Amino acid sequence: MRQMSAIILAAGKGTRMKSDLPKVLHGLGHKPMIEYVLSAVREAGIDDLCIVVGHGADEVRTTLGGEYLYAVQEPQLGTGHAVQQALPVFSKPCDSTMVLCGDTPLLTAATLNKLKTYFETSDAACTVMSAVLPQGGSYGRIIRDSRNEVEAIVEEKDATIEQLAIREINSGVYCFKIKALREAISRIKPNNAQGEYYLTDVIQEIRKRGGKVNAYVCQDSEEILGVNDRYQLAVIAKALRQRKTRDLMLSGVTIVDPDTVYIDDDVEIGTDCLIEPNVYIEGACKIGSGCHIGPSVKMVDTVMGKNCEIGPFCYLRPGVVLADKVKAGHFVEIKKSQIGKGSKVPHLSYIGDTIIGEGVNIGCGTITCNYDGKNKHNTIIEDEVFIGSNTNLVAPVKVGYRSTVAAGSTVTDDVPENTLAIARNRQCNIVGWTFQRDPRFAKKDEE
Ligand code: UD1
Ligand code: MG
Repeated sequence: MRQMSAIILAAGKGTRMKSDLPKVLHGLGHKPMIEYVLSAVREAGIDDLCIVVGHGADEVRTTLGGEYLYAVQEPQLGTGHAVQQALPVFSKPCDSTMVLCGDTPLLTAATLNKLKTYFETSDAACTVMSAVLPQGGSYGRIIRDSRNEVEAIVEEKDATIEQLAIREINSGVYCFKIKALREAISRIKPNNAQGEYYLTDVIQEIRKRGGKVNAYVCQDSEEILGVNDRYQLAVIAKALRQRKTRDLMLSGVTIVDPDTVYIDDDVEIGTDCLIEPNVYIEGACKIGSGCHIGPSVKMVDTVMGKNCEIGPFCYLRPGVVLADKVKAGHFVEIKKSQIGKGSKVPHLSYIGDTIIGEGVNIGCGTITCNYDGKNKHNTIIEDEVFIGSNTNLVAPVKVGYRSTVAAGSTVTDDVPENTLAIARNRQCNIVGWTFQRDPRFAKKDEE
């Protein structure tokens, strides 16, 4: 099998986004759009990746990190010029390369694999991935010759009226034999409506030198959709969400109303979970089987075991780790805390920077006071503790094994094991004391 690398084009400005942020870094479900392309390429078994950066190059590199090769294109003179910058960057020798754009996040590894197989089993020097659309729009049109091979790709801006009627369009994804690409790319010229070096012009150059170019028609034309403006960003975000909820439902998760649920791409959810409406599960959440979540819950980077009960109206912030059978109920916010097996925080609480053991009950309205205005402090609540309602736990503080805190306490000192802590004023009853009424209301009361 031939060794294949990939070049991802991401140097363009993305003018229509009207943004200071480079286009490929705009988020889809809290992940930059280019990450979806990179994942699909790697999932298709291609690890030798070069990203062409230009506009906002430093920001793109910083965000994506050091695991990729980068080529800098400055100035940006077109897609052909961009590929030219990437060719010298590969350190390992490769026979062929796949070229993609960083702004087409719906491409799947399965489709890229089909393209790769189509290319590798043909004798073509280039395979273009095409799609047939109801209308060609602003995409390049595929011109085929009498043998049905690809003769050229004509950009919308350069096309004749007859060519504009062609509905088979260029997806912007290609496989090339690297030798043919190298030879052809040095010959392209910016003689077109946009004055750019078009990558699509290499097709004629390859053919002039006897190379064959064919097209693999992508069956699901939705996959090739690109993001050019923020409206398309929202359309694609929705398509990705639908894909995610469908995958989860088919793998055994019940989602009552998928249209109201926002689950990020990397989230893992076990079988027999029930997700109610208006739930946001973001970042790298991992949810065990049999959990009941919602309605109206938001969680970010949360890990939970099996059979947990979350919500309604619960907010779990990053760093929350829940063991099996934990309950976090109504209007409960938890941040950077671990909660042990079977423990419950059922109502109206804030728990932050806390370690809670197993079998603990946290009474309604309990607050961990974790912030003194300068620093955050930790609270430790050991196994089988009972915290009475409306307790303030002023951190740093520890409540020992099997202890109880009386309702309404403000706990500032550690509580040893097997102890009852009462930290509130003792009630005082003054017998015979009556409230002196305002005489102005006396008449009204008599009526
Ligand atoms: C390109 C194709 C068109 C195809 C369409 C598919 C060309 C000439 N045309 O058009 O046939 O139908 O994609 O979406 O290739 N980029 C650079 N450097 C540059 C210019 C662009 O890296 O100098 C990158 C962009 O960041 C983007 C990608 O290349 O990720 C495509 O560029 P774009 O300007 O969107 O090309 P299209 O006009 O859409
Ligand atoms: Mg484009």
